[in-house]
Amino acid sequence: MNFDLTEEQLAVRAAAREFAQTHLLHDAIERDTESRFPTQQVKMMGELGFMGMMVSPEYGGGGMDTVSYTVAMEEISKVDASAAVIMSVNNSLVCWGLEQYGNEQQKNLYLKPLATGEKLGAFCLSEPEAGSDATSQKTTATREGDHYLINGTKNWITNGSTADTYLVIAQTDTAKGHKGISAFIVEKGMDGFVIGKKEDKLGIRSSDTHSLMFTDVRVPIENRIGEEGFGFKFAMETLNGGRIGIAAQALGIASGAYELSLAYSKERKAFGQPICNHQAIQFKLAEMATKIDAARLMVFRAAWLKDNGLDYAQASAMAKLYASEVAMETTVESVQIHGGYGFVKEYHVERLMRDAKITQIYEGTSEIQKIVISRNLLR
Ligand code: CAA
Ligand code: FAD
Repeated sequence: MNFDLTEEQLAVRAAAREFAQTHLLHDAIERDTESRFPTQQVKMMGELGFMGMMVSPEYGGGGMDTVSYTVAMEEISKVDASAAVIMSVNNSLVCWGLEQYGNEQQKNLYLKPLATGEKLGAFCLSEPEAGSDATSQKTTATREGDHYLINGTKNWITNGSTADTYLVIAQTDTAKGHKGISAFIVEKGMDGFVIGKKEDKLGIRSSDTHSLMFTDVRVPIENRIGEEGFGFKFAMETLNGGRIGIAAQALGIASGAYELSLAYSKERKAFGQPICNHQAIQFKLAEMATKIDAARLMVFRAAWLKDNGLDYAQASAMAKLYASEVAMETTVESVQIHGGYGFVKEYHVERLMRDAKITQIYEGTSEIQKIVISRNLLR
């Protein structure tokens, strides 16, 4: 068993760290306060190869492994979890789904510009009445000759207004339940496709989250991914990998908060000595470091299983469940270690605490991860 990162993975980590420290950190607080999308930074992430990391070079991607992707996600999330989720959706939901299940024409037309970062993608599964209960899709896609008419509403869509390419899940045959769900590529600007209001969120405030409305949106049959009825499997298989990305995001939030707390505890003095000399603070740091290490090993294991063509659904759900808990616990304790300074924006940890919460909700809540895990155990 070898726990060392390869030369390439170390280089990716160094590049992601450098990018995050140089280009994300300086205005992360401002962008969070103003809910401002990191337009310039996302463009740079494309140029640096962070938007299509795992996509084959044939389609404009970096051809890297999933471990490299998690390493980059951790470094970027340490500084800015909003930039990280924008990156994560594009990489592990949109690009991966298209590369894995799209046909050659779809890959050439849609995957290439997404993998290079020229265009941005969104993944549209959730609806007002179908979040955890994702099989209860109300959005319909009705076949009419050589096209489908899509009608319905999607909720909570990351990159909702900034994306160009949307993977939309819809019912093509309501009588067949989840086996009557299909997946489609929808382009921004198609007639009848309206971007709804932007959500005002607790955390990841500089990523844009929108509802999307579809009224008789005419989508050619060439834009269906896979066969009719394949859409739910498509969404679930895509989310199995996506959850590794969110686990890495949670890991990054936790390790970012830990690193800030470790440094602060050496500088801040109370009762005539640095607070890290107090055992209560030492024990908090010890617990944080231990849990972060465990979370990182789980994230790497899930990524390694995926890279080696082994079953990773269970490991990915476990990694997301655990890393998101660690993110929440670590960030709460980081605020505590910072005392009053932790409660104001300048020290970053309050933002990381707000950002941590979403990792327990999206790409399947913690309760849903437990359903996925226990069903696997009891199968
Ligand atoms: N991998 C592969 N297939 C899976 C699967 C998985 N993890 N989970 C379910 N399936 C398959 C099942 O095998 C079944 O297929 P068959 O009938 O062919 O065997 C089918 O899906 C239906 O599964 P269930 O019978 O288990 O359906 P259910 O309704 O009881 O439960 C669920 C399904 C696991 C709860 C599912 O609805 C789910 O994962 N919900 C959470 C949705 C989610 O994660 N949304 C994220 C939206 S994207 C997002 O959030 C992005 C972002 O924020 C950035
Ligand atoms: P609900 O499903 O209504 O759940 C409410 C509560 O009930 C939760 O605690 C849940 O765990 C619990 N619960 C539900 N069912 C069960 C059960 N069977 N057993 C035990 N507990 C249960 N979706 C997309 O498709 N694409 C995106 O890009 C995207 N981005 C998002 C970005 C943000 C900022 C947010 C907030 C959400 C995003 N989502 C996205 C949606 C996200 O995936 C859903 O919010 C999530 O899956 C939960 O669905 P829900 O909000 O409808 O909650």
